[in-house]
Amino acid sequence: MAMDDAAVSAGDPGWSDVTLVPATLPDIGIEDVDLSSNFLNFALRAPVFISGMTGGHPDVEKINAALATAAHTHGVAMGVGSQRAALVDPELAPSYAVVRQKAPDAFICGNIGISQILEGKIGTDVLRKLIDMIEANALAIHVNVLQELVQPEGKIELGRAFEALANLVAASPVPVMVKETGCGFDHSTAARLAETGIAAIDVGGMGGTSFTLIEGMRANTAQDRRGARLAQTFATWGIPTACSILDVRDVGLPVIATGGISNGLQAAKALSLGAQLVGIGRKMLTAAVAGPDAAVAELGLIIDEIRISLGLSGCRTLSDFSARSPVLSGKVALWATRNR
Ligand SMILES: Cc1cc2nc3c(=O)[nH]c(=O)nc-3n(C[C@H](O)[C@H](O)[C@H](O)COP(=O)(O)O)c2cc1C
Repeated sequence: MAMDDAAVSAGDPGWSDVTLVPATLPDIGIEDVDLSSNFLNFALRAPVFISGMTGGHPDVEKINAALATAAHTHGVAMGVGSQRAALVDPELAPSYAVVRQKAPDAFICGNIGISQILEGKIGTDVLRKLIDMIEANALAIHVNVLQELVQPEGKIELGRAFEALANLVAASPVPVMVKETGCGFDHSTAARLAETGIAAIDVGGMGGTSFTLIEGMRANTAQDRRGARLAQTFATWGIPTACSILDVRDVGLPVIATGGISNGLQAAKALSLGAQLVGIGRKMLTAAVAGPDAAVAELGLIIDEIRISLGLSGCRTLSDFSARSPVLSGKVALWATRNR
């Protein structure tokens, strides 16, 4: 269902309200542009994070292998999907572990939901299992309160999340990051999250893959009228990705911009707003389904488009680029000046 077109939000992530200022006759060649970046003390060849999406079924092992081949080839970061399935059935661990085999030197990020943590299921031993399964460089905790509310069995104990995250951070041997999956983060939540000691935040903004819509599809299939109705009502709830970057960029955490990025120009716009990395989900998943060559080619195109965006802006490095403000219009300009 998550790959269905109907899983993409009808809401706008905001890229059309961000205009990069061209340097009409740049005095550098595109080949001079250096996209190397550093994320949590790890050197990347381009500021890209293949979002955590899959694992947990023997059939998806080859998709994770294709994504990891792309991450390895291009020297970017990658996440796996929720590892909960492998905690329940350890025989599913290879569908995640394949990522480390195909990308032995890459920055690989584990993944588990906040609800697992709130339910007390992630003690020190389990934490170790999650990390060891893929020799993870970091662990992402996904949150999406709206998705939980749409689920019939969904229950979320609001309020305890910050304390639980602080405890997890203290117990974890690797950096912990927190990611939304389609509703974005606001400034004050991000500031509170920063106090827990997390190492980075992935905005997971509105305008791309929406787990509210995916839950709505599940509800429709299960003839759960309440869930289907809630998903429809709140289909475009959340902070558009571009706006969420602006909201969280000054809380002192590295920002990953994910949600509705499907080419390198959109990625460059996210970087120009203050993101350190851009996360790409659906676009990479679709390529990976076709195989490793397609995944390598798609990621290569995206990175090329980022390089061209910097070159056309007259910037040789990402730090030159981040000093060159884009022009904001419409909704994104309003978010940039919102009273908070
Ligand atoms: C098929 C699929 C499965 C996903 N599974 C997870 C998951 O298990 N954990 C998670 O944190 N995010 C998951 N995501 C969300 C992605 O990491 C990403 O945040 C989201 O797809 C937004 O990016 P996009 O608009 O480029 O697709 C999944 C996305 C897709 C498309």
